[in-house]
Amino acid sequence: MAKQAQATWGGRFSAGTAELMLRFSESVSFDRRLAPFDIQGSKAHSAMLAHVGLITSAERDAIHAGLDTILATIVAGKFKWETKLEDVHMNIEQALTKLVPAAAKLHTARSRNDQVATDMRLYFKAACTDLIQKIDGAQRAILSLAEKNRDVLIPGYTHLQRAQPVFLAHHLFAYLEMLQRDAERFSVVADHANWCPLGSGAIAGTTLPIDREFTAKTLGFVDAKGRPRVTQNSMDAVSDRDLFIEFASACALTGVHFSRMAEDLILWASQEFKFVELPDAFCTGSSLMPQKKNPDSMELLRGKSARLQGNLHTLLVLVKGLPLTYNRDLQEDKPPVFDSHDQTAISLEVLAGTFAGVELHREKCAAAVADPALLATDLADYLVRNGVAFREAHHAVGAVVKLAEQKSLPLDQLTFADVQTINPAFKADWVDSFNLSKAMARRKGTGMPGPAQVARQFKRWEKVLG
Ligand code: ARG
Repeated sequence: MAKQAQATWGGRFSAGTAELMLRFSESVSFDRRLAPFDIQGSKAHSAMLAHVGLITSAERDAIHAGLDTILATIVAGKFKWETKLEDVHMNIEQALTKLVPAAAKLHTARSRNDQVATDMRLYFKAACTDLIQKIDGAQRAILSLAEKNRDVLIPGYTHLQRAQPVFLAHHLFAYLEMLQRDAERFSVVADHANWCPLGSGAIAGTTLPIDREFTAKTLGFVDAKGRPRVTQNSMDAVSDRDLFIEFASACALTGVHFSRMAEDLILWASQEFKFVELPDAFCTGSSLMPQKKNPDSMELLRGKSARLQGNLHTLLVLVKGLPLTYNRDLQEDKPPVFDSHDQTAISLEVLAGTFAGVELHREKCAAAVADPALLATDLADYLVRNGVAFREAHHAVGAVVKLAEQKSLPLDQLTFADVQTINPAFKADWVDSFNLSKAMARRKGTGMPGPAQVARQFKRWEKVLG
């Protein structure tokens, strides 16, 4: 039993904490990654304490110097983290107390409840910046794959059945849109993080004359005009975990996106499609079957996506039904958040790495997209241009498809006489509808896969991604 250990709260206890309880309740094994933010928060807090006269400027300077030393020790990997001190906050405070006597005043008008809330808000701002950068990296890799294969056409699919022809670039640009929304979500989360909870104390603030705005400004919790942003309710500030859920949600949705891209690539790399060759560096072989080249990076992206959704669910359930305000349950809020961050980050890097090494099997793409059935809708549009109502045109082309199937012929191998008997609005030029490049050129509207639009999107993304 280690009564001595709890210098921070041990005063009212006569017996020490069970060793089992220490192992059960510690969080320092995972929250130590908050150390830089914790130290940043402590420096701002002590600067504020000096500003309002609760400590002297000499005491502040001593605290700052001590915190700098501790940060350097941590960065060098030489800091001795102690499980018995529970968490990152108490580990740092105890180490500081050994270095500088003034450290005994650092926790004036502060609780670990507002301290951890502040640390996490600083962390979220940094984590969002990190993920936004990595999304940008993945987008660049996708854009350069599109650039290398500007002229490649492939079938687009609905219901995993061949639907209509698209430029590969148009398909890849869909991924850029998805990732762009993800990046925007992370910037919204970063903005929501941008409120300073320090000064909320354990639950009800403090009786001491602190200056919350000073602390907020020092930590960069400011609006676009540099005005401090401080949380407006002390009880909410120490119990609110919305950000954790929003962040995990943004990660989960990013995960859903890369899972869908992964699935496309897995299909495209299969013998059945063979549109692409995935880079060896991101594939593995089979220990039994010598011919295998498995798309493991993409399969793992699908798998990680499940894990990211699990983390979100953990957080939702953790907070649901908790009475206000802080409850120790909330310590469990960090592992899922850190895991979501780390897994999203590495997934984005793998996505970028894999896309960067994708090679196209152009002849396979060309053969697949040459299927005239992909232009059956164009044939219906042809009839519409000849004055036929779309419903009737659709029906007539359906009959053309059926006839071709009966004759075991591709659509464009039927004779003019064949189609004329189906509908007299078919003229001699009916077969022109199957000219792929003309068909693509007709897709002119914004957001469509025609060559002019695709060129426009190339320009747009080159500009957005720099
Ligand atoms: N390690 C704790 C956590 O992450 C810090 C807050 C502790 N507060 C308390 N009242 N025990 O939740």
